[in-house]
Amino acid sequence: MKNERAEYVEILQKILTSNVPLSFFKDTIPDGQKSFFNMLFLTTFRQMTFIKNTVLPRFIQKKIPSKQKILNYIFYLSITELLFLNTPDYAVINSYVDIAKKFTDKFGANFVNAVLRNILRQKSDLLAAHRNTYFGAEFLKILKNDYSKDEIKQMEHFVSIEPALDITLKKSAKNPFSQGIILPTGSIRLEANTKVAELPAYNDGIWWVQDAAAALAVRSLNNLHGKSVLDLCAAPGGKTAQLLDEGAFVTAVDISQERLETLETNINRLHLAERLTVVCSDALNFNSSKKFDIILIDAPCSATGTFRRHPEIIHTKSLQDVIQQAELQKKILNRAISLLAPKGEILYVTCSLAKLEGEKQIDDFLKSHTDFEIKPISIFGTEKMRTKEGYLRILPQTFVIDGQTNLSGADGFFIAHLQRKI
Ligand SMILES: C[S@@+](CC[C@H](N)C(=O)[O-])C[C@H]1O[C@@H](n2cnc3c(N)ncnc32)[C@H](O)[C@@H]1O
Repeated sequence: MKNERAEYVEILQKILTSNVPLSFFKDTIPDGQKSFFNMLFLTTFRQMTFIKNTVLPRFIQKKIPSKQKILNYIFYLSITELLFLNTPDYAVINSYVDIAKKFTDKFGANFVNAVLRNILRQKSDLLAAHRNTYFGAEFLKILKNDYSKDEIKQMEHFVSIEPALDITLKKSAKNPFSQGIILPTGSIRLEANTKVAELPAYNDGIWWVQDAAAALAVRSLNNLHGKSVLDLCAAPGGKTAQLLDEGAFVTAVDISQERLETLETNINRLHLAERLTVVCSDALNFNSSKKFDIILIDAPCSATGTFRRHPEIIHTKSLQDVIQQAELQKKILNRAISLLAPKGEILYVTCSLAKLEGEKQIDDFLKSHTDFEIKPISIFGTEKMRTKEGYLRILPQTFVIDGQTNLSGADGFFIAHLQRKI
């Protein structure tokens, strides 16, 4: 019998060693296995810090030799199944012992067998030792630069909460959902685990999935009707759709042809393609004789703010990623100003928690570009997220809906609205 978990072990190794996102592999998994695959991987990433720091050290005293390091990935998946999922214990042990035999030797298989059986015997003690810590060491290093222990603990709490499904509705559309709540910021929030394909009016193209924090960026802009907007890092197009829906003429640029194809499919489904031009280009090489009224830079970033939906990030991102992305963002900002009309506006956005990619990036930009100033953002419902400078700094815990804790939280984002003075 084919043991698909052997393939999962290899996928886990790839994600953790080469920074490839989980979403990349989801498409390669047969439909019948997708839902289990998803649950197994999301739970593994959420529980991996506990498994690494609390469970494994109790049963393994010596470091696993590097030529047998595949055993680490076998342990992360098998222990997740034993402690947190409903797979029968014997099935977990049998399949991962077989995998250890396949990837190592009979000693490796015996070792996995012994460790898993010991863990099983102490299951309730182990679970009682869980201290709700989820962030990996490198991820903590990024956060410690910018946040207090208390703030980090509050963020960490959101790893264990399944994120809600947020929807942006077209301006002219009537809300087709009988369930969910309308957030003060305008997004519609549905329960976590709502199945998108089963929602009403999907084929009518009147709504799209977009995190409530992501939706705030374009809502920071006023009077978009008839304006020319350059959307410099546009795919898959959530913000492009908002710009078009507000009546702007949008040039959507992205470096990835594949992601632009998704953008076009999305915009066509929403019947918003009329005022859209799509260009596949590196933002740093994009040129245009016409200058734009507004430039949206939804910059490539460490994506640390999306850890709730993409928990692999809490084990794969390092300070080095943040520094590298911040350098690219600075170049894109400098490129953008040569494409901006007099008195034009820049909306700079990242889904990063790191201030190097947010507050610090824009503070530095303003120091070296004195012809720009901040336009303070004041969207209804965002009072707790405004900084004294006029930026929006959104953390999962600052996006709280009173009395509805299970419906609270949002991705981490930074949004700055800048105006050229002359
Ligand atoms: C945060 S995502 C954009 C999300 C999008 N604005 C939305 O709302 O759906 C960043 C995008 O930047 C693109 N990108 C990365 N490096 C780029 C570059 N040098 N030039 C242009 N696009 C780039 C990526 O392909 C990715 O689609």
